[in-house]
Amino acid sequence: MTTRVLVARHVYPEVVARLAEHFEVEANEAPVDWSQPELIRRLQGKQGVFVAGTEPIDATLLDACPDLRAVCSMAVGYNNIDVPACTARGVQVTNAPDVLTETTADFGFALMMATARRIAESEHYLRAGHWQRWAYDLFAGADVHGATLGIFGMGRIGQAIARRGALGFGMPVIYHNRSRLAPEVEAPLGARWVDKADLLRQADHLILVVPYSPASHHAIGAAELALMKPTATLTNIARGGVVDDAALAQALAERRIAGAGLDVFEGEPQVHPGLLAATNVVLTPHIASATAATRRRMAMLAADNLIAVLGGAAPLTPVNAPSRSG
Ligand code: DGY
Repeated sequence: MTTRVLVARHVYPEVVARLAEHFEVEANEAPVDWSQPELIRRLQGKQGVFVAGTEPIDATLLDACPDLRAVCSMAVGYNNIDVPACTARGVQVTNAPDVLTETTADFGFALMMATARRIAESEHYLRAGHWQRWAYDLFAGADVHGATLGIFGMGRIGQAIARRGALGFGMPVIYHNRSRLAPEVEAPLGARWVDKADLLRQADHLILVVPYSPASHHAIGAAELALMKPTATLTNIARGGVVDDAALAQALAERRIAGAGLDVFEGEPQVHPGLLAATNVVLTPHIASATAATRRRMAMLAADNLIAVLGGAAPLTPVNAPSRSG
């Protein structure tokens, strides 16, 4: 029987070509998002789907696509996929961890530095023709070296950021995570576990890397922002929804924290108007993992997972363990 897959997102032609060596492939050839009814229509008679962190794969879609056996994502975060619903229907889910860790950590660090040193804000000022003279306090920001780095979510990416801070910038590192790291993992990072309130109170630069789930929804809201130092910065490379964007926009407007660097937003690609209006925030369009090499690796991993699962082999990077097998 021919195995059919849908590539639901416009992606590198070589990834589609690799899949076409194994399957009959229908691919999204244009940078457009398919609606859920469109996805369901195109998934009829297909056993596998290639997605990113954007296509909602829920019980409605799964029930309407009974042939589906594999949902393989090129993203590491999979909050767009109802994993228990997939598991209950014997659908294998895979994601793309590891291949993006260092690239994403680079970006988190860059966004934190751009925020602390007010790089975007000063660039806009210069481009607008406002620069008339040198001044002692012109865009005076906050030091990064030696400042306390706070990390909320200490998985692979959090640890890669900690390494950069501790080894490259002499930053004391504190973190909060549901589970504490083993001492032999903490030691080389000089990382210290603290409770969430202490993380918020002590960090000079706080970076969010926690996965999104109902438990982390609005983990940073008005009450949490109120605990932060007025000189502190907040960087979010986790997911929109981890931060209450309305509360953050208000805190930035009232200068209750010094600044924020945001790569992810609630309801993206829409951005809260209060964030767009703020000058003390650096905004980027969900690009933390976006280097050409890394995005290729992420997409190729999703393709390799589809090839493995639909070929009856073990998935390379499984998210769940459904009982029905290929
Ligand atoms: C990821 O891989 O989860 C990135 O945020 C891209 O969606």
